[in-house]
Amino acid sequence: MNSFLTKLKESQQREPALHIIDTVKKNNIYTIDISSQVNNSQVLDRIYEYKDKFPISRTSSIENAWHSDYFFHNHVPDLDVILLNTIEKYIREFYAPKNTYDLILLSSWPIIYQKGSHVNRHNHGVSALSGVYYVQTGTGSQPLVFSPSEHTIHPKEGMLVLFPGDLYHYVPVQKVEGTRISIAFNYAFNIKLNSGIVNRH
Ligand SMILES: [Fe+2]
Repeated sequence: MNSFLTKLKESQQREPALHIIDTVKKNNIYTIDISSQVNNSQVLDRIYEYKDKFPISRTSSIENAWHSDYFFHNHVPDLDVILLNTIEKYIREFYAPKNTYDLILLSSWPIIYQKGSHVNRHNHGVSALSGVYYVQTGTGSQPLVFSPSEHTIHPKEGMLVLFPGDLYHYVPVQKVEGTRISIAFNYAFNIKLNSGIVNRH
């Protein structure tokens, strides 16, 4: 587990809230249902608007899928209101409850998966905290699998998964027709200088 997050968590332990679907305490993974707090149809609209503007997938590492650039948040002015503020509330709650760190959103990117899409085993490098929000799922949507633990999360619409950025994970090949849409993101923590400010890059 990311050593920074381990130390931060150890120093700021508190009881988890009731809305957690699942936790893997050893690996510091949280799975949370935020469907009642997010305007999912607006998020979906923003993704398809972005895809219409930039239809070429920005990575070759995922076959048969559309992957935006890594700065989705910079192009969607109301993403804070419709999604990010909720995500950041839970990051603070679970990883920095004493509110002594600013969050820095480093990158965010939606992915639209279809039949045949998959993501090879990877991690998010230097990101202290990473996650994924599931915008659209359906029967046959492939899980998120952490490696080497093989801990498997089956996505549902409105589900948020938070995990240390150095944890390896992959998405197996989607074998059935259907569209699976997610937004992934990376955050850093910075010692708080100004209360409540989120720096976006
Ligand atoms: Fe990933």
